[in-house]
Amino acid sequence: MIKSSAPSNIALIKYMGKSQVSGNRPTNSSLSFTLNHLRTEVEIKESSQTDEVRVSKEGPFPLSLSEKGKKRFLDFFSYLKAEFSLPGFYELTSSNNFPSDCGLASSASSFAALTQASYDLALNLGTLDIELSCEELASISQKGSGSSCRSFFHPFSLWSSSGGASAVDLGIADLVHSALIFENQKKQVSSSEAHIRVLASDLFLGRVERAESRLKLLIESLRSGEWERSYEICWQEFWDMHALFETSSPPFGYLNAQAVEALKSIRRFWQENKEGPIVTMDAGPNVHLLFREDQKNLREKLLAQLKSEILSFEVIHS
Ligand code: PMV
Repeated sequence: MIKSSAPSNIALIKYMGKSQVSGNRPTNSSLSFTLNHLRTEVEIKESSQTDEVRVSKEGPFPLSLSEKGKKRFLDFFSYLKAEFSLPGFYELTSSNNFPSDCGLASSASSFAALTQASYDLALNLGTLDIELSCEELASISQKGSGSSCRSFFHPFSLWSSSGGASAVDLGIADLVHSALIFENQKKQVSSSEAHIRVLASDLFLGRVERAESRLKLLIESLRSGEWERSYEICWQEFWDMHALFETSSPPFGYLNAQAVEALKSIRRFWQENKEGPIVTMDAGPNVHLLFREDQKNLREKLLAQLKSEILSFEVIHS
């Protein structure tokens, strides 16, 4: 039996749009921050007849997985078995250390954990005679879920559209993550579907150039400690992705009234204090905040402001 875990990640420059669906090749490069505190654990046990996937009913955060989700996981496991020469059949059990109904459960941590666990099993059984680098494992994991390839590095990952994912040194050892959770409904449009639909937006014209140019600017500004500039670039980038959603054909979106209120409040906070967190949103209504380690008091101040202005939401902290 093998147990391995992998973290989730939040993109600052987004992967949205595929140049090739098979293998999940991205239209543009992306940059993410690894969320080491939000992890999926995958356990692999031998089974007699067939490969199966179970979700753990134990622990504080029981998972639920649709039939489609299970099939996607098992299909990718078949690919991993062939890649790592794993014989026989197995039972996979997956669990998260965070609530799975809060809109944070991403395919990144679960596919990265499945890749890692399958690789660890192959090393254990001796079916692989060479050790693979993190870059090689990331490139295998990308085939199951694109964004999972960024979960193999920390604190930041750079996934180049012309190559694979790797660690990138931005001179920042860590950041403090807070996610504002406004909704725990299942997504109406999955990210796999979003990758296809955005290509039909008129705004997709120039998207690759905008993302690549922001990526360069963001790396420069984070490296040189220009925090406000970094916030501005990330703000433009997540709005760019959400504008693609709303202008695709047919249009769709993830923003809800509370998320919009929170964004307005955070924008006002930045304008009044000339300081604040980096803000981003994924394909969901939750707002992700990244603070520098010296901004603890500022974080308390902003959360207090948000709590006084917005009716109800949960916060998940690193
Ligand atoms: O890896 P996927 O297919 O779940 O796509 C993830 C897409 C976003 O989360 C919306 C953006 C990103 O770069 O992670």
